[in-house]
Amino acid sequence: MLGLPSFVFIGLVVAQALLAVRSVQADNDSLYHNGPRVPFVDYPGMAAASAQAIGEPLPYGQHVPECKAVKKRVEWRTLTYDQKKDYMRAIKCLQNKPDYGISPQYPTLYDAFVWVHTTNWTDYHLNAWFMPWHRWFVWIHSEAMEKVCDYSGPVPYWNYTADYQNFLESPIFSSDPNIGFGSHGNTAVNVSGLIGFKVDNGAFANMKVNIPVTHYLTRNFSAWKTLDPTGQYGVAFGETFSPAAVARALSSNKFSDLEAAIEGFDNTLHLGIHNSPHFFSSGDWTGPFWTNNTQWFPQIAVAPNDPIFWIHHAYVDQVFWSWQQKPGKQWLFNGNIPWDDPTDNSAKATDRLPFFGLGPNPPINLTLKTENWPMCYTY
Ligand SMILES: *[C@@H]1O[C@H](CO)[C@@H](O)[C@H](O)[C@H]1NC(C)=O
Ligand SMILES: *[C@@H]1O[C@H](CO)[C@@H](O)[C@H](O)[C@H]1NC(C)=O
Ligand SMILES: *[C@@H]1O[C@H](CO)[C@@H](O)[C@H](O)[C@H]1NC(C)=O
Ligand SMILES: *[C@@H]1O[C@H](CO)[C@@H](O)[C@H](O)[C@H]1NC(C)=O
Ligand SMILES: *[C@@H]1O[C@H](CO)[C@@H](O)[C@H](O)[C@H]1NC(C)=O
Ligand SMILES: *[C@@H]1O[C@H](CO)[C@@H](O)[C@H](O)[C@H]1NC(C)=O
Ligand SMILES: *[C@@H]1O[C@H](CO)[C@@H](O)[C@H](O)[C@H]1NC(C)=O
Repeated sequence: MLGLPSFVFIGLVVAQALLAVRSVQADNDSLYHNGPRVPFVDYPGMAAASAQAIGEPLPYGQHVPECKAVKKRVEWRTLTYDQKKDYMRAIKCLQNKPDYGISPQYPTLYDAFVWVHTTNWTDYHLNAWFMPWHRWFVWIHSEAMEKVCDYSGPVPYWNYTADYQNFLESPIFSSDPNIGFGSHGNTAVNVSGLIGFKVDNGAFANMKVNIPVTHYLTRNFSAWKTLDPTGQYGVAFGETFSPAAVARALSSNKFSDLEAAIEGFDNTLHLGIHNSPHFFSSGDWTGPFWTNNTQWFPQIAVAPNDPIFWIHHAYVDQVFWSWQQKPGKQWLFNGNIPWDDPTDNSAKATDRLPFFGLGPNPPINLTLKTENWPMCYTY
């Protein structure tokens, strides 16, 4: 055949086949995802699920995986002591895992999550993408906790509505070195304008975080007093996430009404269910007070530096989920994309949410039902 020795021919065929496989593989790869890859995401499955969610043909005849189980998220207080302790361990474990190329200037998986949340943050805050984006973000974090750091307990949320009359006394702020998120401490710090107190108690005592520069986890729980109750907002802090405030949000008609209620846009006297806990503290949890005129300003969204972020946002998600359980609400989605133009109504369920390498960019429709693959959770 062609006068070539058969081993050369076979070699060519094999090489060609390998090349062909490699090029289809490359097609596969670019189809499923470009850029960094994390080991806790099923990329082909996600490509299929994303296509299905918006009515596109499934790539390569792939099927959408099924949930092995639909896991129930629970209120923090219902975790056992050992589960809480293990949750804290897993949070800190993320600091010892690589960033998988997501945040090259910052080396750990812990940083990668913070980095993603600071990247182009106005694209998915204060707009229609906010709740779907944060739902997915908290879920991806829970996947990393489970698959990279072996957390096996339920994913917790913090029902701070239960603490609305005595927020500071919430058991969340326990100083227990195994299970407490801690309060703030007594040592004042000022890292280039990040002012507050070093967190010196609880499971994250003296913990350092890296974005935008390495510093002690910082909070200042007295900051809220300037907002409450006689401050500029004129309404008691706890009332912005009281049972009545939640009920008001849940009575929203359209998705954009829910978003407005969660953010407090519908009532100038309310910081909103989502913003209030952030504003309770300055420091990493991101109050309004420490970013002005400092190098921190462009990275105002460092809140995931504070581990409390995850249980706080899981509760915002729980309120979103509760609203979706009402008749006809499950697949509703609408609202503004530009954060500074509430009259915009261009957001679509086919929009892809940007995750900057932390897994693929899912279409919003894939985030609307938590019980579906890949999220597979409920409340
Ligand atoms: C493309 O990816 C799909 C899903 O993993 C796989 O079934 C298929 O075999 C891949 N094709 C090639 C040529 O690698
Ligand atoms: C979102 O998914 C739901 C349920 O499968 C479907 O009815 C709806 O048409 C989808 N929306 C878009 C924009 O694809
Ligand atoms: C952030 O947004 C800008 C403007 O839309 C865009 O050019 C840039 O690529 C985005 N950054 C990333 C990391 O995607
Ligand atoms: C949160 O706490 C409030 C007040 O105790 C309670 O009414 C509500 O059912 C709780 N919600 C969840 C989701 O735990
Ligand atoms: C914090 O430090 C910055 C300089 O990095 C300084 O401009 C600012 O006044 C300090 N703030 C306080 C409250 O000490
Ligand atoms: C904490 O916040 C209060 C109220 O805003 C402020 O007066 C105080 O200077 C802050 N302390 C530190 C250490 O940042
Ligand atoms: C920070 O800037 C905002 C917007 O300009 C302003 O409303 C707020 O009062 C400023 N905060 C401080 C502590 O200066």
